[in-house]
Amino acid sequence: MKKQTATEPIWCEALRVGHTRIDAEHEEFAGLIQQLLHADGNALAPALDALVMHASVHFAEEDAWMQRLDFPAMHCHQREHEAVLASADGVRRRLQAGETLPAGQFAAALADWFPAHVQYLDSALAQWICKHTWNAKPVVLHRHKPVAQVMSHS
Ligand SMILES: [Fe+2]
Ligand SMILES: [Fe+2]
Repeated sequence: MKKQTATEPIWCEALRVGHTRIDAEHEEFAGLIQQLLHADGNALAPALDALVMHASVHFAEEDAWMQRLDFPAMHCHQREHEAVLASADGVRRRLQAGETLPAGQFAAALADWFPAHVQYLDSALAQWICKHTWNAKPVVLHRHKPVAQVMSHS
């Protein structure tokens, strides 16, 4: 996957995993990464706090699903979540000490990490949840053309 730039949106339709709640949380997660990417000065600490708060709740939710449904790649997946929160802790400490650079570097690293994590680990988890809940795979419909354009060709 190509590297993100600060101006490109992190969230895109291709990141949908087909589980409504997970997709909604991921969209919000991507927005919070974007906010941290664009934050500076006094806006850095609240942007970092909002991101960490969201990530903590979201990761805890995914971890609980994995535990409950005995997800095969659980440990590898949980380790990624833990690594993000541990890095965020370090960044917060350095920010409190007056170092602003690590916050931007953290945001850029997250922008690169997020799509791959979603497309591989979270997508597999969404499939596992759907399989165990409905004995089915999630279906994600991507609309590439405006509806009017699709209709005029049918
Ligand atoms: Fe995850
Ligand atoms: Fe996730």
